[in-house]
Amino acid sequence: MTNEQYIEAIEKRHSRRAYKPKHLSQEIKDVIKQMVDVVNESADLDFLFIDDATPFFKIFSGKFSMIVIAGPDSQKAREDCGYYGESIVLQCVYHGLGTCWVSGTYNENKVYEAINLAPEKRIYAVITIGYAKDSYSLVEKSMYKATHKKNKSYQDMIEVCDEKLPEAYSYGLSLVEKGPSAVNRRPVKFRYENGVFSGHVDEPYSDKSVDFGIAKLHFVIGAKAKGVNGKWNFENVFEPIDSRRLKFEPKNNEEDEINGSTEKENE
Ligand SMILES: Cc1cc2nc3c(=O)[nH]c(=O)nc-3n(C[C@H](O)[C@H](O)[C@H](O)COP(=O)(O)O)c2cc1C
Repeated sequence: MTNEQYIEAIEKRHSRRAYKPKHLSQEIKDVIKQMVDVVNESADLDFLFIDDATPFFKIFSGKFSMIVIAGPDSQKAREDCGYYGESIVLQCVYHGLGTCWVSGTYNENKVYEAINLAPEKRIYAVITIGYAKDSYSLVEKSMYKATHKKNKSYQDMIEVCDEKLPEAYSYGLSLVEKGPSAVNRRPVKFRYENGVFSGHVDEPYSDKSVDFGIAKLHFVIGAKAKGVNGKWNFENVFEPIDSRRLKFEPKNNEEDEINGSTEKENE
């Protein structure tokens, strides 16, 4: 999917809890399973696709599948679960499916019993996926009301900012504002100091780090749309590729040698 398509998905995504009474087609299930395999291989996580998720839910309606979002017991794994889980969410949403991250309103014990997860691994959430009803159900409307009484703007998420944010960063943050988070708490705090952009959550060894992983993905997509390619490093600092290149910036005419394009050669 292109970056523009990810943005389209961010713009139209909302948590959906009421699904049509038919299961996903086998073709769609196979594609989601492939995405799960790719995530597990590349990020060392333990996502698992479950065909029929309805037995684990009470207040969600209709037929739907789910991905169990699981991995090692570490802060990094929690963040990666958010980042990679949300990338699957956005791909599903782009292709017209309804999704919802869920960490509370399902029977977690029953899921642990149903799957064969190594004892040192943990379930952080599940993501339901199905054909959403055309209009929002009463349950959905009341849950939306309950979780959206107060909406934290992205400006409210900035803890420190010592100069005007570059447009790529403010746009990235505006997409963070549109991301899902447990009970819509938007717990990530961002800092922009001495030209360095970073983020953190209080209690990083908690499921707030899942929210942070989701926010990280939305931010990267937004910054990229405004021409700043970058990634989050292990200290939770956003590193634009350009500034990383500065480290290798050659002095004087060494540049030509490094680029392999000296004036002589060009003649
Ligand atoms: C990690 C996580 C856990 C969540 N847990 C639940 C849940 O247990 N039940 C539920 O109905 N929604 C849950 N949500 C959905 C949030 O309530 C929702 O993302 C938030 O209210 C923002 O609304 P939106 O997703 O429609 O933009 C969860 C979201 C995240 C990211």
